[in-house]
Amino acid sequence: MQRLSSFYPSILGANIHYIRQKEPKGLGHAIYCAKSFIGNEPFAVLLGDDIVYAEKPCLKQMIEAYEEYKTTILGVQEVAREDVCKYGIIDGKHIEDRVYKVKGLVEKPSVEDAPSNVAILGRYIINPAIFEILEHTEPGKGGEIQLTDALKELAQREAMYAYNFEGRRYDVGDKQGFIEATIDFAINRKDLREGVLEYLVNVVNRETGNVVENEAAATNEN
Ligand code: G1P
Repeated sequence: MQRLSSFYPSILGANIHYIRQKEPKGLGHAIYCAKSFIGNEPFAVLLGDDIVYAEKPCLKQMIEAYEEYKTTILGVQEVAREDVCKYGIIDGKHIEDRVYKVKGLVEKPSVEDAPSNVAILGRYIINPAIFEILEHTEPGKGGEIQLTDALKELAQREAMYAYNFEGRRYDVGDKQGFIEATIDFAINRKDLREGVLEYLVNVVNRETGNVVENEAAATNEN
C-alpha cells in the first residue's frame, strides 16, 4: 500500500514499510491492519496477484484520475460475463471516456446478480474514510471481511469513481496467468526477447512437430 504523498519520493529512494496480517481474515482486514501507517491520507492499493502491462503505468493513470476527481478511484476493466463471479463488480454510470460514477458494488456475484461486467482488477486509490467503515464491516463473501463491502458503504457516503485503465492485466495468482505474464514481460525486454522467442519456437516445434517461423533466428540470419 502506498500513501500518495510519498509515492514519488519513495520510488526514487525506496522507503519500504511492511505490516503483517496475522490472520487470513480477508482483504478488508488486511487494509485495516495498515491504518496507523496510512494515517489520514488517500492511499493506493495494488494487489500483488494482479499485474498490469501498460505504456503509462496503471497507477499513474489512476493517480491522474484521482487528481481530477479528488476522491476514491477503482481500477476496472470489462470482463467476460461468465467471469464476474471472480471479482468485485461495480454498478456504475458511464459518465465519460474511461470513467464511471460508482453507485454500488458487489463482491463476486453470480452472473444473474451481477449489476454489470465491469470488474475491479486489483488497483485502488482510496480515501482514508474507509478505515472507520472497515472498523465495523462484518465478514461477507467467503466469511472474509471484504474491501468491496466497505467500499460499497463509502460510495453511499461520498462520491466514488471507477477508471477503466489502459493496459493488459494478468492474474498471476492463476498458473496460466503467471506463465503468460512471465513470457510477455520477457519478450517485451530487449535483453531477453530474442532468446525467449527462440526457446518458445523450439518448444512449439518439439511438442507439435510443426515448423514455426522463428523471428529470432530469422533476425540472426539477416
Ligand atoms: C480481490 C477482491 C476483488 C477483486 C479482485 C481482483 O479478490 O476481493 O473484489 O476484484 O481481488 O483481483 P481475490 O482475487 O483476492 O479473491
